[in-house]
Amino acid sequence: MGKNLLKLSDLHTDEIIAILDRAQMFCQGIDVPKFSDKIACNLFFESSTRTQYSFNVAEERLGMRVVSFNPASSSLNKNESFYDTVKTFDSFGVDALVIRHSENEYFNQLLGHVDAAILNGGDGTGNHPTQSLLDLLTIKQEFGRFEGLKCVIAGDIAHSRVAHTNYEVMRRLGMEVVTAGPKEFLEDSLDQEDFDQAVKTSDVVMMLRIQRERHAASMSMSAEEFHKAYGLTVEREKTMKDKAIIMHPAPVNRDVELADCLMECDRARIFKQMSNGVFVRMAVLERAVK
Ligand code: CP
Repeated sequence: MGKNLLKLSDLHTDEIIAILDRAQMFCQGIDVPKFSDKIACNLFFESSTRTQYSFNVAEERLGMRVVSFNPASSSLNKNESFYDTVKTFDSFGVDALVIRHSENEYFNQLLGHVDAAILNGGDGTGNHPTQSLLDLLTIKQEFGRFEGLKCVIAGDIAHSRVAHTNYEVMRRLGMEVVTAGPKEFLEDSLDQEDFDQAVKTSDVVMMLRIQRERHAASMSMSAEEFHKAYGLTVEREKTMKDKAIIMHPAPVNRDVELADCLMECDRARIFKQMSNGVFVRMAVLERAVK
């Protein structure tokens, strides 16, 4: 059985660094393997542009054959369960299953029941390991280290698998991580700081999308009010440290969590993050099927 990638908290920091080093080699076009006898299957039960299609590109770059699943035209419409759907693709003999699902830790029900390696493309509000790996690669490329850097993760923390994954792994790698945003989106168990203060003192300002699809009730403020109070406005960006960078996992609601004109400004690394997504996904696919 190949190596699963379910949660970054399952991985020792040495293994995380090894994945990042391999991804950096792929970024430079060094030692790219070919797995033309391997088949990957992308099972996205939740919407995705970046994760789904950058896995697809990563699989193509590794010479793998790719099966993509369309939930709308599948037998999910005939009440087939998530478990039986995944078991079906596993029974076809594919080598890797890339899965995104809205249920936290959906993968627990599959462990011991599928032969293919499982690569988690996001589970509910729990984990997004490849997003965190691409965020870490982007930070490493920028600063050459993690130790001693400060990151503020701002916005809808409570509903964000990116926030939860990054908070744990960044701290383990020696970064200071604080969260900021409206009280209704914060979690008591995570360190918090005033947003304006955190923007001024952080090396990485990571903004998050308001994840309305996960909200039980509507947000207490309008998008305009949110932008003014907790968004990275043009005025706030001017208070950032000289070398500090702006990150966002995307998709971005322009002019809500981030001013439209900052999306591609000199310190924005948002599209760089997307490019790096292909390289980290190549690295975790290699780890899964070699
Ligand atoms: N960042 C991210 O996971 O984007 P998608 O939802 O488009 O995959």
